[in-house]
Amino acid sequence: MVEFCSVLCGLGAFLIILFYFYKKNRAIAKIYISEICNRIKDLFMALSKEERILEFVLKNAVRGDPDSVVDTIDRYCSSKEWAMNVGNEKGLILDKIVKETNPSVLVELGTYCGYSAVRIGRLLKPDARFFTLEVNPKFADVARQMLEFAGLKDKVQILEGATYDIIPQLKKKYEVDTLDFVFVDHWKDQYKPDTLLLENCNLLRKGSVILADNVIVPGAPDFLKYVRTCGKYDCTNYLSHLEYMNEDDALEKAVFRG
Ligand SMILES: C[S@@+](CC[C@H](N)C(=O)[O-])C[C@H]1O[C@@H](n2cnc3c(N)ncnc32)[C@H](O)[C@@H]1O
Repeated sequence: MVEFCSVLCGLGAFLIILFYFYKKNRAIAKIYISEICNRIKDLFMALSKEERILEFVLKNAVRGDPDSVVDTIDRYCSSKEWAMNVGNEKGLILDKIVKETNPSVLVELGTYCGYSAVRIGRLLKPDARFFTLEVNPKFADVARQMLEFAGLKDKVQILEGATYDIIPQLKKKYEVDTLDFVFVDHWKDQYKPDTLLLENCNLLRKGSVILADNVIVPGAPDFLKYVRTCGKYDCTNYLSHLEYMNEDDALEKAVFRG
């Protein structure tokens, strides 16, 4: 009886929290609901959601064809299970900015399954050096297989670990002088501290481009306030939609003034 009451209270509290989020931000509530469903699914299935995405790609995409890998992930995530890839609509903006910047040395903060790493990797010149940082070893493992299947394993180096540990090592351990392009797409509360870390480690030069995803949903208000008001960046906002959903979201481009 006591156990039953605890479960009931837990469920009640959960529904109240969910209702609060739904009132506050429908998109975040939808993501939470879909993530909870996916994690429950994980308990009954042999593969995690990220492994299910990989499995779908291995079965349905063309080996060695990055466009086909990107399209196949989008097909899965828009029809079967939502996932936190940048997605196709914002991906087209990302493509445009990567092409304009034509970076030689670049970093991505937050690899996840490797969707944006494949997207970016396929656009790079042959001698570009691209590092993507991922703290979760299971996600890094999926991304490794994704990049290998896409034929990009030699173009993209996955650095496993937390951004705040790896960024300070970029100069000495990875022989990076300065970065031409940084795609910021990890946990949103880390956007601002990691931007400061990039500055403090002298990894930015005049013209370095920082492109940040999800600045509306889930949102990164302290990062946005910082880059827009500190006087060190020229900023542009690219209004778009949250991946695989009809909710507003945006990318913020911040170009370092040096
Ligand atoms: C939104 S997903 C990245 C999506 C990916 N950029 C794409 O579009 O395909 C965020 C990822 O950042 C990782 N992450 C969060 N905080 C991190 C940190 N401090 N260092 C490295 N990775 C981090 C998470 O584990 C997660 O895989």
